Amino acid sequence: MKGIAIMTSGGDAAGMNPAVKCAVDHARSLGMEPYVIYDGLEGLIDGKIKKATRDVTDGMIHRGGTLLRSSRSKRFFEYDYRKQAYDHLKALNIEGLIILGGDGSFRALNDFYNDFKVPFVGIPATIDNDIAGTDYCLGVDTAQNIILQNIDSIRDTALSHRRAFVIETMGRDCGYLAMTSSLASGAEICIVPEIPYDLEAISSRLLPEIENGRGYLVAVVAEGTKIASYLTRWIGEVLGMDARLTVLGHVQRGGSPTMRDRLMATNFATQAVDALHSGNINKIMVFREGTFGTTELSSVAGQKYQVSSDLINLCKPLCN
Ligand code: F6P
Repeated sequence: MKGIAIMTSGGDAAGMNPAVKCAVDHARSLGMEPYVIYDGLEGLIDGKIKKATRDVTDGMIHRGGTLLRSSRSKRFFEYDYRKQAYDHLKALNIEGLIILGGDGSFRALNDFYNDFKVPFVGIPATIDNDIAGTDYCLGVDTAQNIILQNIDSIRDTALSHRRAFVIETMGRDCGYLAMTSSLASGAEICIVPEIPYDLEAISSRLLPEIENGRGYLVAVVAEGTKIASYLTRWIGEVLGMDARLTVLGHVQRGGSPTMRDRLMATNFATQAVDALHSGNINKIMVFREGTFGTTELSSVAGQKYQVSSDLINLCKPLCN
C-alpha cells in the first residue's frame, strides 16, 4: 500500500493534530505517500484531499482542535455520496485511510469498506472517553485539565462569596469527565448517569457541615443527567445557599494538547500506520491496561463504554 490519507471526524479533540503529524511523518518514513483530507467525511465526499507536503504539518503538534477541520456527515450514509468519495480516492491512488473520531465515524468507514474495499484503521478521539474497548481516547487528558483549571477558578470565587456552584461538564451520556474532575477538584457533589443519586442523603450529609461553618460548595454534574439547573435551584432552596450554575461547554474541547495527549497521539498514530502497512486492516486502535493494540470494530461500535468500578466506587460518596 503506497497512498494513504488521514482525516479527522466528529467532535474535535486535542491530540488530533499531533496524531495527524505523526501519522504523516511515519507513513513517509515507511515509503508511503501520505495525504490529508479536510473537513472529515464531508470533505472526503467533496474531494478536499491534499498531498501531505511538509507545510501541511508544520507547526501542527501543539495546536488544539483539528487543523484538518471536522464534520458530522449525514450525506456519507448515502451510497451515491460514498461512491463520489471513492472516485476521489481512486483518482489519487489512495488505498487506505486513517480516521480519528468516534465509533460513528468508524462505522461509516466500515460501510465504505463494504462498498469499495478501501481499508481503514480508526483512532479513538473524543473528550467523552466513551468508546468501548479502549481505556483512553485522545483529547480526554486535555479536557480534564481544562475542567480542573476552571473548577479551581470557580472555587476561588465560591469561597469569596460563600456561594455554591454547580458546574456542568460535557461527556454526552458518559460521566467519565465529571467523575474524574469531581475527585481531582475535591467537589462535594457529583451527579453522573452511571450512579444513582439521592438528594435527601446529600442534604443530610451537607446540612450539618453548613451549620458547622461550611461556607461554599462545588457540585460537578455530567451533561447527560440534564439535572444541572434543577440542582442549582435545589441547593438554594434546600441547602439555603446562594447558588450559581456554570455550564463549561465547548471550552472543554479547546486548548493545546497536554503532554499525555501528545504522547498518546504519537503511539496511536504510529501504530495505526504500521497496522495499515502490514495489512492489519479495518481495526480500531485501543489502549487497554497500559498497552496499545488493535481490536475489531464489532467490539467498539454499538457497545456501551463501562466506566471502571473503581472510579464508580470512589465517586459514590459524592452522589449520596
Ligand atoms: O462528543 C463530544 C461532545 O463535545 C460531547 O461532549 C457533547 O455532548 C457534544 O460533543 C457537543 O456537540 P456539538 O459540538 O455538535 O455541539
